[in-house]
Amino acid sequence: DGLNLAAKAAKKLYLGTATNADQWNDTVYYSILKDNAEFGQITAANVMKWFDTEPEPGVFTFEDGDVIADFVKKTGKKLRGHNCVWHNQLPDWVVNGTFTPSELAFVVERHCYELVHHYQGQVYEAHFLTGSVHTEALNDDGTFRSDIFYDTLNSTYIPIALRAARRADPHAKLYINDYNIEGTGAKSTALKNLIKSLKREGVPIDGVGIQCHLTVGEIPTTLQQNMEEFAALGVEVAITELDMRFLNQTANAEGLAQQRADYETVIKACNAVEKCVGVTLWDFTDKYSWIPTTPPDEGYPCPWDENLKKKPAYDGIIQGF
Ligand code: XIL
Repeated sequence: DGLNLAAKAAKKLYLGTATNADQWNDTVYYSILKDNAEFGQITAANVMKWFDTEPEPGVFTFEDGDVIADFVKKTGKKLRGHNCVWHNQLPDWVVNGTFTPSELAFVVERHCYELVHHYQGQVYEAHFLTGSVHTEALNDDGTFRSDIFYDTLNSTYIPIALRAARRADPHAKLYINDYNIEGTGAKSTALKNLIKSLKREGVPIDGVGIQCHLTVGEIPTTLQQNMEEFAALGVEVAITELDMRFLNQTANAEGLAQQRADYETVIKACNAVEKCVGVTLWDFTDKYSWIPTTPPDEGYPCPWDENLKKKPAYDGIIQGF
């Protein structure tokens, strides 16, 4: 029994989780994380991001990321890369830098190339690296997000990043990863248009990562349809950062039953879409979730509780597959 086993029985590639290595001295946490019956895939929650991998221009530091990659190799899980270009968790020299367009194009290209190249070769068979090449390129209304990349390079930084990543590792699946694209709507439509235009221009793009930082009781009803619409464009999809916070409900027995049902709904949607390849939890326990828990109403977003005991949500996932 286990989440990853359930996913595989349903012909998905994996059920995985994000993690931070500083949690690994928690022996109960670590033993669940290690268990391939529960998790077949790992995403570094932080340490493959720009601030950690290129803290100074042209100075690449992969030691922290390698700790995750080595664990993945040792346990025989799959690795998802995360991420090449994002407006958050950037080093100061990028956020506060002044660049001409050609200078920043060089900087983006070098970063994506070096990052993906470093983890190249962990791709074949046992290991499956997908660079989530750009996260969160769009605003909720579907316009491009104003950040250092867009403001300097317009949307050209996206093909620059994708092409550099493809060159760095031709076998890595390249994803654009975003939030608030769970249901249909302006932002999803804009991303579909972006995927179409990338494909038209011959820019490599293999998948869409749907983050799924969701709220209990508020699961978009168009989730499955939306995934199908992405898949119809010739890309695969993955649920890349699933968690489900309490916001307008209380985490009492009734709330936990709702959370269980909502996890099941999300998993079922992925299960029904052939091109939905897998699901990643954005960590598996309330103890280490990035969503703060303020009793009684907020947080508690994961399938294991703060004492590392399984919650009803765990059974919801099993049921969903
Ligand atoms: C989060 C990490 O989990 C936190 O530890 C960190 O402080 C902030 O970033 N979308 C993403 C992830 O793509 O990289 C974010 O991870 C959560 C939102």
